[in-house]
Amino acid sequence: MTTSTTTTMSPEQRVTKVFQLLENANKKDYMGEKITQLDHALQAAQLAKKDGADEETILAALLHDIGHLCPSMEQCSETRGQNWAAFHKTEADMNVGVVDHDRVGAEYLRKLGFPKKTCELIESHVLAKRYLSAIDPAYHAGLSSASKQSLKLQGGPFSPTEMREFEKDPLFKWKVQIRKWDDAAKATGAKPPVLDTYRDMAIRNLK
Ligand SMILES: [Fe+2]
Repeated sequence: MTTSTTTTMSPEQRVTKVFQLLENANKKDYMGEKITQLDHALQAAQLAKKDGADEETILAALLHDIGHLCPSMEQCSETRGQNWAAFHKTEADMNVGVVDHDRVGAEYLRKLGFPKKTCELIESHVLAKRYLSAIDPAYHAGLSSASKQSLKLQGGPFSPTEMREFEKDPLFKWKVQIRKWDDAAKATGAKPPVLDTYRDMAIRNLK
């Protein structure tokens, strides 16, 4: 997706493109959990809506893992200007989560014209995990083994200085909240509203 392609695509087409990635993820399991990536996204968005988040934040919850789902060489070289394979340190890393998937996803959506706040929240959902792991030992203990392993690759729990810096962020509360919805969105057998529920919301929030 080149910049010219992006600018010539209508908001409807851009949303369809992103939603197609999520629809295709209905066959992919979510990080070893017994739910699909699509289930996980829909549950996260439902939790955000239930907690009274604004539309930009609901979209961030829905699309927070889009960086796991845009893995083709062309999408990523267009998004980051570098080879996709360079994002994966080893094959083992790929099994516990795409390295930098938070930034890959945020940049991908930024190019498509998604709101600044949505992209910033997505970009920080790994940082929020590092924050929560540092501030709350019970949180860290409760992470799945895959999530603990990916945390190591993501830099581990924050240092006290990093924690204080993160707390100064104007979006701090929502950055942490996105992470909590992410962690909670793993229920098996849940029936969250379908993806199309969010189509109009996504279209009206595009630039
Ligand atoms: Fe997630």
